[in-house]
Amino acid sequence: MSIIFNEQNKTFYLNGKGYSYVFRINDVGYPEQLHFGAPIPCEDVTFVRSFGGRSMVASPAGVDNGKLSYHHTLPEIAFYGSGDFREPTFLVQSERGDRLCDLEYIGYDVLEQKPDITGMPSLDGGQTLILHLKDKFGDMLVDLYYTVYEDVSVITRRIVYKNGGKAPVKLERAYSFTLGMHGTDYDIMTFPGNWMDERTPETRPLGHGVISADSKRASSSSTMNPAMAILPRGTTEQYGEAYGVCLVYSSSFVLKAEGASTGDSLIMGGINDFDFSWKLDGGESFETPEVVIAYSSDGIGGMSRAFHDAFREHIINKRYVKQPRPVLINNWEATYFNFDNDKLRAIVDSVQGTGIDTLVLDDGWFGRRSGDNDGLGDWYVNEQKLEGGLDAIIEHTHSKGMKFGLWFEPEMVNELSDLYIAHPDYAIGIPGRPKSYSRHQFCLDLTRKDVRDCIVEMINKVLREHKIDYVKWDYNRNVTDTFSVGTEPERQAEFAHRYALGLYDICERIINGNPDIFFEGCSSGGGRFDPAMMYYFPQIWTSDNSDAEARTKIQYGTSIIYPLSSMSCHVSAVPNHQNNRVTPMKTRADIAHLGATGYELDTTKFTDEDRETVKAQVEEFRAMQDIILEGDLYRIENPFEGNYFSEIVVTKDKTRAAFCVYRRNSQANEYTKRIRLAGLDKDKMYHIDKLGITVSGASLMNVGIAPNLKVADFISEMYLLTEVK
Ligand code: GLA
Repeated sequence: MSIIFNEQNKTFYLNGKGYSYVFRINDVGYPEQLHFGAPIPCEDVTFVRSFGGRSMVASPAGVDNGKLSYHHTLPEIAFYGSGDFREPTFLVQSERGDRLCDLEYIGYDVLEQKPDITGMPSLDGGQTLILHLKDKFGDMLVDLYYTVYEDVSVITRRIVYKNGGKAPVKLERAYSFTLGMHGTDYDIMTFPGNWMDERTPETRPLGHGVISADSKRASSSSTMNPAMAILPRGTTEQYGEAYGVCLVYSSSFVLKAEGASTGDSLIMGGINDFDFSWKLDGGESFETPEVVIAYSSDGIGGMSRAFHDAFREHIINKRYVKQPRPVLINNWEATYFNFDNDKLRAIVDSVQGTGIDTLVLDDGWFGRRSGDNDGLGDWYVNEQKLEGGLDAIIEHTHSKGMKFGLWFEPEMVNELSDLYIAHPDYAIGIPGRPKSYSRHQFCLDLTRKDVRDCIVEMINKVLREHKIDYVKWDYNRNVTDTFSVGTEPERQAEFAHRYALGLYDICERIINGNPDIFFEGCSSGGGRFDPAMMYYFPQIWTSDNSDAEARTKIQYGTSIIYPLSSMSCHVSAVPNHQNNRVTPMKTRADIAHLGATGYELDTTKFTDEDRETVKAQVEEFRAMQDIILEGDLYRIENPFEGNYFSEIVVTKDKTRAAFCVYRRNSQANEYTKRIRLAGLDKDKMYHIDKLGITVSGASLMNVGIAPNLKVADFISEMYLLTEVK
């Protein structure tokens, strides 16, 4: 890992694990990218710089030279109005109304320790270059940040925009990065979805023009994840170069890929500039969220492993990321709102001896909550429902040697709540204008400090007064009626970003303020699944869809960017409550065990045999949890493309692996399916428990194995591979 500046050819060499990122300062003081990809020596590669001489080209202001144009370079930052006709990285309007900014390089700093971003999570560690730029003819100052790592194949970037003058300016767009890519021969993969169908990878060719993937929901959203893969045509799961970008951000975002007339492509994005502006008074700065850019020469799978390592090593709480996770029983699908302390005690009793070690009491324990139309915002126990209060069930759970978890939805309020009656203005909306309902609830205005203080005080009181080990933090609607009574009119379009800053503030004060409590994230399942949330929540409920068949796709899609350790996955009842499908208990467990596993069904109905089954499943998970949480993931069979789903997770030292195979539909007279494993050491010998064979990594990866699955629908098997010396 190194950051080197060569004064002679004015070239910066950023060398990370497995890549080089190289750009130069060109003749007009403009940073121009030369290479991002496989490592190269720190030699002069300026011979690939852009050459001018084209028609319809505009030169930089004041330079009458047809051979020079911003438009024909691969930019580190692109700006509007001085000859670059592609998508700009930012747009700024001065007080008098002009929108020009012509940045030139004025110097750099290299920091051994990466600085934090004020009020926003970002990856830690890494050597950091700050490139200082300034408007040639004005006061705007722009700093580009680049961080390289010794241990993970990503580079992180972000931009700080500063008003160096006295008069205010308005940022109309303030992206975190622009990444130049040579050529246009790319496929672009995005991660759209929906509630119960999150992160479905979608790939399309980049032609000329712009592919844009965004959220306008003040949430990173289930409808589009803030990540994009850029795949040189021909790249596959296992082979070829793959680039990926992922924003460390939880509010409205945009990512764009532009195939330009210059024959090059630009990838860019950050805070969504739709319904956005930010007023910068003289001397003020605006910090943008970080983007993580992964590079791999081992296909899409290699890109995934680069992201997984980066998130596990540099953003997920070190205290929890590799720790064995609780194996929990969550009462939601067992009881919904219909429970009391007797029922909860019975659930705790029914899992004794199974290895399930945590009860998570879900929605419905607080305020006047009787269904989903009342009570949110009143974070005090409903004693009528829970006789003896929360402590009665907490003590019972603890007396059985289990931990206790509790559900909150901190950002929300129902109209039917004491909080709303006392403070109707705490809900986001325009006074005097009806608000839009979603699940009968409103979002609280986290842009206001008094509202945040009230939430933090209420929730921290519950956490202080009861012995709570685990919290599930939910967020079940998206922001509408965007307006804050606490913000001046000219700053109303700052709302979505201010919401994110407010969210991170309450997370800091509640989550980091209670460091002994484990926090799980949730947003109607995986509706806010992003690296910034992962900073606070080591695991996030991946989807409200708990059907094993649907989960093969949701978990496969999610794993393209996020590590298995971040995905909460539960074994639930059949017929499945979301889609009525009936799958075997074993399959439900095998698929759930490919993440942070748990159970979510009425365990009081368990027979002794069921309890034995669960006990064996939990033992199996415990025996391989370190592989799942820390290992390298190799996806083998893609459930979006065929009848099978299969992946193998291999420990870093390649001595053990967990291999899961699943077949959706049985077929009469099926041919023998061979599956070639991946990621093993070809020279090691592995024993496969359920096949009772010992064979070399070379054969497993080149010949494969033939899983002899039972002839029925939705059948799976999980194999543990152990090196034999
Ligand atoms: C959301 C969550 C569920 C459950 C319910 C409770 O839908 O995703 O797991 O907690 O809310 O209302």
